[in-house]
Amino acid sequence: MGVGKLLVFGATSATGQLIVRRALELGWQVTVCGRRTLPEHSANADIKTVEGPIDDEETLREAISGQDVIISVFGPSSPSPFTNVDVFVPAYKKILATMRNEGVGRIIALSTLSVNDPEDRFSLLRWLLATALWAIAHKVWKAVNDISKVFEEEGDDIDWTLFRVGFLANGPRLRPIHGYVGDGTLGMYLRRADIAEWTLTQADKSPPEFVHRRPGICSVNV
Ligand SMILES: NC(=O)c1ccc[n+]([C@@H]2O[C@H](COP(=O)([O-])OP(=O)(O)OC[C@H]3O[C@@H](n4cnc5c(N)ncnc54)[C@H](OP(=O)(O)O)[C@@H]3O)[C@@H](O)[C@H]2O)c1
Repeated sequence: MGVGKLLVFGATSATGQLIVRRALELGWQVTVCGRRTLPEHSANADIKTVEGPIDDEETLREAISGQDVIISVFGPSSPSPFTNVDVFVPAYKKILATMRNEGVGRIIALSTLSVNDPEDRFSLLRWLLATALWAIAHKVWKAVNDISKVFEEEGDDIDWTLFRVGFLANGPRLRPIHGYVGDGTLGMYLRRADIAEWTLTQADKSPPEFVHRRPGICSVNV
């Protein structure tokens, strides 16, 4: 595709900041959108900022209009029963509707390995972790699974990819690989820098890969 206009949701997160930084290095024209803006983003003349609630139609229209690709990494900041998750499902419903209205066709959004995919095989580790999340932070588990259903049920005409992650870690880039649970290669450990690399590589692909699919991604040593 060649780099173009990229919108990043969740740009304030540690992961989002790395995506924004790497996207600028690669030559993308970057817009960030969220309920707050980091000073380093608002002070950067190369970044367009749109601030507002992530389920607000006018905020979304302003952010999404004219974009080539969206990368979204917003989500619950902690897997706690007290985390408020109410905004995420309505936000994704409105993001998909706004994409449709504005003629923006591509979104690459973060999901987690607690969401099942038909291409997965049984893994005891994944079962234990997903069951623990289900029991301890049921609202978070449900929100993540409901977001996946929103894409499935309302994203027919959108080129969406949900990439699923396990445990995030900081540190320099390793090598991101993709796969499915139980395939013998997909692990749970993922550096945030590798999310930036993987999502931006996918964002630049034409035709897009993993459309209407949910690959898992993890980091491996080079
Ligand atoms: N840490 C892990 O091991 C792990 C594991 C699985 C999945 N994840 C997911 O991976 C993503 C990135 O994680 P991270 O650790 O780099 O950063 P993070 O601190 O979890 O980032 C959360 C992002 O979502 C936004 N957000 C949260 N609640 C919001 C709300 N109510 N309204 C609007 N925006 C909201 C935050 O915006 P503000 O800055 O405005 O709060 C921030 O940009 C998150 O979606 C997280 O759920 C993390």
